[in-house]
Amino acid sequence: MNHFKNRSFLKEIDFTPKELQVLIDFAQHLKSLKAENIPHPYLQGKNIALLFEKTSTRTRAAFTVAATDLGAHPEFLGKNDIQFGQKESTEDTAKVLGSMFDAIEYRGFAQATVETLAANSGVPVWNGLTDEWHPTQMIADFLTLQEHFGHLKGLTLAYFGDGRSNMGNSLITTAAMLGVNIHIGAPEALWPAPAIVTQAKAYAAQAGSEVLLTADAQAAADGADAVYTDVWVSMGEVVDPAERIAQLLPYQVNAALVAATGKQPLIMHCLPAYHDHNTVVGKQLGEQFGLAALEITDEVFTSPQSVVFEEAANRMPAIKAIMAATLGDPFLPEALFN
Ligand code: CP
Ligand code: NVA
Repeated sequence: MNHFKNRSFLKEIDFTPKELQVLIDFAQHLKSLKAENIPHPYLQGKNIALLFEKTSTRTRAAFTVAATDLGAHPEFLGKNDIQFGQKESTEDTAKVLGSMFDAIEYRGFAQATVETLAANSGVPVWNGLTDEWHPTQMIADFLTLQEHFGHLKGLTLAYFGDGRSNMGNSLITTAAMLGVNIHIGAPEALWPAPAIVTQAKAYAAQAGSEVLLTADAQAAADGADAVYTDVWVSMGEVVDPAERIAQLLPYQVNAALVAATGKQPLIMHCLPAYHDHNTVVGKQLGEQFGLAALEITDEVFTSPQSVVFEEAANRMPAIKAIMAATLGDPFLPEALFN
């Protein structure tokens, strides 16, 4: 029996901590198969809809390559290419896509949209990022940590930035589920919602890990094995950049903050990142506010401890594992789930 068969992955808690761990290990296995050129066509003949309301590099590329490696056909459906939203409701779109495709990936704004797609399409739906959650990123990031440390339980991850964003929510939840201590360094106004913190603490109590929210950046950094940050303004957010920069500049991941860990932590970022002026937005905000970088300095971003491009590369086997487990019939021994 495949525990995952026909299940959607809309947010991390759709799966148990053990199931998340199995997906991470399965992603590692699929990564090895690809490296050894061993075919793994678990989704031969399947058709996958890739529905994007927001832009993407990694998620789109990873779903496309993973589907192709698995023997499936991926079809990109951008928000301006189809009737979705403008002329057709989410519910009706779900019914149509579900009648033709074997599964649907959705990236967009409201979590309610991906939930509606799952409730009405009759096929597995995968969340490729919403305003609330970024679950496929979590499988890749915790795979990256596991590759470096050989285990997850007992590690300490410190996240700096907007704790209420999809990344803040997903990191506090996933770390707690997997037994990783999680520190959120952010001003109190940008901490995750109380319900998400309460839920994370319940998982942490089960897993024996710690959840720390603090406005003291040094305290958040202390003892971290990995330091994580993300953009200060997420896609679709309408905020005054001056206000957000003032709130989060004390949490910029720079050499001093990294030193405050007292370790040589891995440096993580889901990307894209504003670490220099080589982007339109990074240059414009950098010049306007007199900053060489925003959430992470170029020095730290390019340091030997930085694993940001490993995380990006791991999006592909992570997404492949999610797709193969929920839509295919890979052999996943029962003992893995005990
Ligand atoms: N990290 C991530 O989701 O990247 P993209 O926005 O490029 O997909
Ligand atoms: N918090 C970011 C993550 C991008 C992968 C955003 O939503 O824009």
